[in-house]
Amino acid sequence: MYLEVYEDHEWADLVAEMWTSFMQRRPDARICLPTGETPRPLYASSAPNLDLSSTTVFLLDEFDLPRGSAARCDSMFEQDLLRLLVRPPKAQHRLRVEASDADAECSRFDAIIGKGGLDLTILGLGGNGHIGLNEPGTSMDSPTRMVDLSPATTRAAKRYDADANALRGMTLGMHRIIESDEVWLLVTGSHKTAVLERMLSGPIGPELPASYLRDHPNATVFADRSAAPNL
Ligand code: PGA
Repeated sequence: MYLEVYEDHEWADLVAEMWTSFMQRRPDARICLPTGETPRPLYASSAPNLDLSSTTVFLLDEFDLPRGSAARCDSMFEQDLLRLLVRPPKAQHRLRVEASDADAECSRFDAIIGKGGLDLTILGLGGNGHIGLNEPGTSMDSPTRMVDLSPATTRAAKRYDADANALRGMTLGMHRIIESDEVWLLVTGSHKTAVLERMLSGPIGPELPASYLRDHPNATVFADRSAAPNL
């Protein structure tokens, strides 16, 4: 795993340059994208130059909240990226958390990703070490599925909408993340320093699912100085 640390004021622009250049090299890539506070400045910086018109986009996860909730990942994705894009994705796929048969919905989503898998998966780092909604306790081979959220994640979702009471969610499986050809983990802000240090130097295992990325052949952590003051 690689680690890049950028000064806070240039983090979004530098990662945006990397992403724009990735998309220029691989316009037809199949990519998975996160939502939340972390990617917001990256999306704002990237959007004017980003051409996703040949790209297939998968949304990483979704909270089990009513449609239209500001904390829903599809709402944030629309607000933070899609509406800013001059050249929107060729195709986009999301986990329909409201489906009556959750297992069938997760299988449907996984089948679209298919054998070819993902070329690039971009992730945020949860305060409890989750990636997607792969919460502590997740094994490395966990499939795409509906999960019960930890109390910390339910609390964290209230940052997006104070009325949100997210107790469950659907997430891309850990095995899909690990199989992705390339993974970028975005980590910003001093509130992520402790979990980033645990992820980088603690044991690799289910207690901190992001730690599995240390064994990935092409994973990069993009941290800002606030998140990584000692690195
Ligand atoms: P955040 O969420 O970017 O809003 O901090 C990260 C995550 O939980 O994946």
